[in-house]
Amino acid sequence: MNHQTAEKPWLNSETPIAQRVELLLNAMGPEEKIGQMWQVAGDLKDRDQLIKDGKIGSILNLGFEHITEAQKIAVYQTRLGIPLIIGRDVIHGFRTIFPIPLGQAATFNPDLVRQGSRVAAREASSQGIHWTFAPMVDICRDPRWGRIAESYGEDPYLASVLGAASVAGFQGEDPRAADSIAACAKHFAGYGAAEGGRDYNTTLIPESELRNVYLPPFKACLDAGCLTFMSGFNDLNGVPATGHRFLLTDILRTEWGFPGCVVSDWASVEEMINHGFAADTQAAASLALQAGVDMEMASATYHHHLPKLLQDHPTLSEKIDQAVRHVLHLKFSLGLFEDPFSWEKVTDSLLCSSHLQLAKQAATESCVLLKNEGVLPLQPSPGTSLAVVGPLADAPAEQIGCWVFDGLSQDAITPLRALQQTFGDSCQINYAPGLETSRSTDTRGFTRAIQAAENSDLVLCFLGEEAILSGEAHSRAFLNPPGAQEELLAALAETGKPIVLIIMAGRPLLLSKVLPHCQTLLYAWHPGTMGGPAIVDLLLGRFSPSGKLPVSFPSTEGQIPVYYNKRNTGRPPRDVQRGIPEGTPLDPVDFCANYIDSEHLPLFPFGFGLSYSSFELGQPVLESQTIHCEDQLKVCIQISNTGEFAATEVVQLYLRDLAASLTRPVRELKGFQRVTLQPGESRAVTFALPARQLAFYDGSGNHLLEPGEFDLWVSSDSKSGQPVRFRLVQ
Ligand code: NOJ
Repeated sequence: MNHQTAEKPWLNSETPIAQRVELLLNAMGPEEKIGQMWQVAGDLKDRDQLIKDGKIGSILNLGFEHITEAQKIAVYQTRLGIPLIIGRDVIHGFRTIFPIPLGQAATFNPDLVRQGSRVAAREASSQGIHWTFAPMVDICRDPRWGRIAESYGEDPYLASVLGAASVAGFQGEDPRAADSIAACAKHFAGYGAAEGGRDYNTTLIPESELRNVYLPPFKACLDAGCLTFMSGFNDLNGVPATGHRFLLTDILRTEWGFPGCVVSDWASVEEMINHGFAADTQAAASLALQAGVDMEMASATYHHHLPKLLQDHPTLSEKIDQAVRHVLHLKFSLGLFEDPFSWEKVTDSLLCSSHLQLAKQAATESCVLLKNEGVLPLQPSPGTSLAVVGPLADAPAEQIGCWVFDGLSQDAITPLRALQQTFGDSCQINYAPGLETSRSTDTRGFTRAIQAAENSDLVLCFLGEEAILSGEAHSRAFLNPPGAQEELLAALAETGKPIVLIIMAGRPLLLSKVLPHCQTLLYAWHPGTMGGPAIVDLLLGRFSPSGKLPVSFPSTEGQIPVYYNKRNTGRPPRDVQRGIPEGTPLDPVDFCANYIDSEHLPLFPFGFGLSYSSFELGQPVLESQTIHCEDQLKVCIQISNTGEFAATEVVQLYLRDLAASLTRPVRELKGFQRVTLQPGESRAVTFALPARQLAFYDGSGNHLLEPGEFDLWVSSDSKSGQPVRFRLVQ
């Protein structure tokens, strides 16, 4: 034992983390403990003095130029030298910006998501960041909610697989490595069910639904070793998530055994007063502590009230110790005590070519081809002229999307730039945006845009949403492409030129009005820094689109929520709507769960996406029609590329439990595989699924595996395919 570890035995890295935590905890006074439970915003007044006094455990959004200095104060000028943990929102990339998470979900490619988070971790860690507040694994069935952009969409299985992949990417093989950062599964829990899609709104979720739909992605992150969780802003069934003892203690700690740290969302402890749950800031501190929030973000109720609360109620010391254990566990797990200035070791990472290449791949795989009447891929010959139109054709700040703190718009390559770089003089590019921004209603630019179309062989029209129209606190009630974009497209269609429509947006938009006016529709989300080159590669057929929708696309706002894994009801809707002739009194045949004035089906279902080729999926063949509860379900399907392009199909496995003690969804995704085939090539694809994955939770937290009949589909989206039946037996 050297001199340093004799004085501070918790510094001995040979000792197991749990023991190091206890050694340090025993050396701490009450104020030092409470200090570890406060995460302050970087611009806090008196920040440095508070660090020196041991009153701050973490800082978020600290200017990079202050990080070393702040850490030096914590390590060298405080009694115990506990390093700070520096947090920041690194959501879909740091400097190299990847597609928004909803776009990444459309790749159905967990390894790509993992690698994207790895890149973000390398870049962020090089600037002094230890902790990101990602992945967001809130299930979202409502595209009005602006934060759907940050989510992996509507499906619990897909969000679980991708959430776990993202955690693995951020934290790397060893979270102590200089280029690893802690992940944070957020927002625990239910936040995505905000009523009316309005951000921060109330959520009401029965326990069975909570456990079957909203919690699985969090559990998957935990199982992937996620070091932190964030409690949500929302009020869940009448209790704010930040004061929700059942969620934060009974489920997260007792049931799941989470050893890491729970941080509140920004001021969500104090906001329990607004919720009408805490009478004042002292009560808010007490409620959050009792519920299981270890660290308070931004507001200061712990800092102000815990010292006195502890004096008045000494029994709170056990709660405080427990919270501090979780914070210290996080800091030890990241290796902060070994190397509090580890970022100095991570060099040459920002925007390096391998990062840009990966961001391009992610953008390419995230694009979903929704319609193609033979126009794509383009085969321009010398002299071909292309009209490039629309407010998103050359809008670098918009294509990088919401929640970008550190990505710079000047790094982003727009489609216009990529087209110019690709074609040089060999193609004539007639650029006329038509509208200044996506929200613009000033149609004076239409004339030039129409002229450009008339003078060209083909129109590439880039519509969508500016970045600011999605993300936190940016919910929308109307989901059509905003401004005069629909009018612009209709005017372009009048020219009779073929139109390839590319949409960049942070959510599913309503496409019913634009679909008839284009021959081809490619949905590119907000694709990030390399969006332009990725889209150009797809347009030219260097790759075939392979993205699939991670969320259903409504045909009208009135259908929302519309999601594929709905229940059947006693009077299931008819897929073909009959309409009601005028003057008809009552029409008993149609007493079913349809609308009388709209489709009930989404315009495009979950899992849907075309490629430049065509695939044929054979009938699924089960290894056995009867499966025992402790066995595996094995199914095989033959898939063939029957078209003329090499392409990738995402083969999707869905199940339905036909009769159960709680009604179950009409289909649930249970597996998927990306299969790349050359033209004419066929392959057998097999899925093996432990039968216990057919279980579900009831309303009291029991996990039930009920014998009975199930339907199974292996299909290319959530709507198509023919089911085969099997029986689960005890
Ligand atoms: C509020 C957001 O809800 C959360 O996702 C984010 O991580 C924090 N602010 C910190 O910026």
